[in-house]
Amino acid sequence: MSSSGQKFYQLNISERIAQLAEQGGLTADEQQILQGINTLTAENADHMIENAVGIFPMPLGFAQHFVVNGRAVLVPMVIEEPSVVAGASFMAKLAQAGGGFTTHTDAPEMIGQVQLIGVPDPEQARERILAGKDTLLKEAAQADPMLISLGGGPRDIEVRILSPDEGDRFLVVHLIYDVRDAMGANAVNTAVERIAPLLESLSGGKALLRILSNLADRRLARATCTIPLEKLGFESFSPEEVRDGIIDAYRFAATDPYRAATHNKGIMNGVDAVVIATGNDWRAVEAGAHAYAARSGRYTSLSTWSKDEQGNLIGSLEMPMAVGIVGGATRVHPTVKVILKLMNIQTAAELAGIIVSVGLAQNLAALRALATEGIQRGHMSLHARQIAVAAGASSDLVDPLADQMVKEKQISLQRAQQILLDWQNKE
Ligand code: MEV
Repeated sequence: MSSSGQKFYQLNISERIAQLAEQGGLTADEQQILQGINTLTAENADHMIENAVGIFPMPLGFAQHFVVNGRAVLVPMVIEEPSVVAGASFMAKLAQAGGGFTTHTDAPEMIGQVQLIGVPDPEQARERILAGKDTLLKEAAQADPMLISLGGGPRDIEVRILSPDEGDRFLVVHLIYDVRDAMGANAVNTAVERIAPLLESLSGGKALLRILSNLADRRLARATCTIPLEKLGFESFSPEEVRDGIIDAYRFAATDPYRAATHNKGIMNGVDAVVIATGNDWRAVEAGAHAYAARSGRYTSLSTWSKDEQGNLIGSLEMPMAVGIVGGATRVHPTVKVILKLMNIQTAAELAGIIVSVGLAQNLAALRALATEGIQRGHMSLHARQIAVAAGASSDLVDPLADQMVKEKQISLQRAQQILLDWQNKE
């Protein structure tokens, strides 16, 4: 809420930025960066990727009402899809009435894999590698002295013997590596490449692939929330009807992979938006999420929804969350740096907890709409605004034009242009 008593969404862009600046102590330059001025340049891009030609802006918004582990948090979201920021904010408000989100995160342990092929005696090789664990861990620790000084580093070695459908068996060694506040891909990849020659001599085989696994199932983040029953009813829908509808919708996703894919996509609407806004690797998080959703052998829902003894709705989400607050784009992208300053988070685990909370809120927004009035109504008014912009409406006409199209139930570029013409002719 602003000092004038207006809600964040009721403010204009400058007022929203001013509010964030006050909250986060932003300089004038940092405020400009949030608006996309003087941020990442084509020259920066040229140092980041190959064949760069420029940059590609996306909308950045801040979801409201998120309370995570008792602390009100700022939630940056980079996303092109209408309704997502509004949906997350509204559900966070419902969750706030039940105490907000409670999160738990595992130690930041990633898995690095080394595939050993052509191993003459896999069982014996496994014994030799396990017997050489201390030497291997010492060698792996040399890869990143900085991480060791921060309390991270290699933790364990595991050996698996895999039998493919075709061809010889091979060995896979897992190096378990605590990456602290980094996403960790670089540290882990360097470490597995470093221990590969030792593994070759211990196993008598050849180290082929040496790479991190994106199924980061030792680095899970969990969020739970309780939505008080009385907060669930709206319009003609009773609280019980909405709650039971959400639970039935969840049971659909839990049982059917076709539905689970869409259900989880809704979760990732929230997750990815924050992962991108904080400069993290959203492909890694996506890969981990879907692999984890299929861990039982059947792809299923990442979240669960049930009711407690008082009849309140209980939600939970558990998924791998390999995100960092140091290194990578967090170091070079000017907007990401401002966002992280605003969020004022101290650890990657804290960020992971916020991200799963947003994923859970987003999932609730989708299920609540789907189990009641359907998704299109809410979508349509935002969609109408996009069409109004595309039709060339000046900023003061975007909302009236969108409202008009929604009222007429005719949302198209052609209709938008026609209405604008009519209004012009009336002037
Ligand atoms: C659309 O981006 C996401 C939803 O399809 C998610 C869901 O169906 O649960 C609405």
